[in-house]
Amino acid sequence: MTTLPIRLGVNIDHVATLRNARGGRHPDPLAAAELAVAAGADGITAHLREDRRHIRDDDIAQLRERLTVPLNMEMAAVPEMVEIAERLRPHAACLVPERREERTTEGGLDAAGQQASLAPVVRDLCAAGIVVSLFVAPDPAQIEAAAALGAPAVELHTGTWCDAVVAGDTALAGSELVRIRAAAALARERGLEVHAGHGLDYATAETIAALPEIVELNIGHFLVGEAVSVGLGEAIARMRAAMRRGRAALEAAAGERISR
Ligand code: PXP
Repeated sequence: MTTLPIRLGVNIDHVATLRNARGGRHPDPLAAAELAVAAGADGITAHLREDRRHIRDDDIAQLRERLTVPLNMEMAAVPEMVEIAERLRPHAACLVPERREERTTEGGLDAAGQQASLAPVVRDLCAAGIVVSLFVAPDPAQIEAAAALGAPAVELHTGTWCDAVVAGDTALAGSELVRIRAAAALARERGLEVHAGHGLDYATAETIAALPEIVELNIGHFLVGEAVSVGLGEAIARMRAAMRRGRAALEAAAGERISR
């Protein structure tokens, strides 16, 4: 298999979290997005939550108007968000589950259990020319459901694996990585474009970048956190380097297989 390039989508939600903590205009998510692009982000991701806890309507509208790279709008599969997406036409929309009380997107979308309600949402967004991805757990039933729904892409939820790595739970980390690998292979087999995200840092992004099917990582919290110590541009440069190392390891392994 030829190695596909891997894109970095920088999620700027938590720049808005910081801004909203004081109710003013600083730091500005659009300025952060522009800085991220200058530092090497291939795209910008922003989640317009139903409770508007971080990104707000005017943020997403400005990002859509001003960005020179693809905007990926994360959204719940609800009529209000579909209407906004159809009006703004971001390059991509990632459908995520939302619960008001959660700290972040805690689980994947239940594409298998909610086929009936998701079908018109996927259909309408695709009809608007938006590249739809479904944020799902690395579970074969969810991948099959995403393919059946006609979504062009899935984003594999790496959160459980990342948490296990950070906690030093090697048994869970090992089994989750096996699930992620298998889900990525199945998704590609079903013709889906494969993205991944949630909880990634330099080390976990490097590991995921070594999976040949994965062509996009969406990373937010860690990069915004790193920006406090090294600056956003440097954090993005380090993340890109980690992703390059992952891809290089993949190419080296493929080369070894060919020469054997
Ligand atoms: N992908 C999706 C679908 C998400 O919901 C999130 C969190 O907003 C991310 C990626 C980024 O996760 P993190 O902020 O942990 O990097």
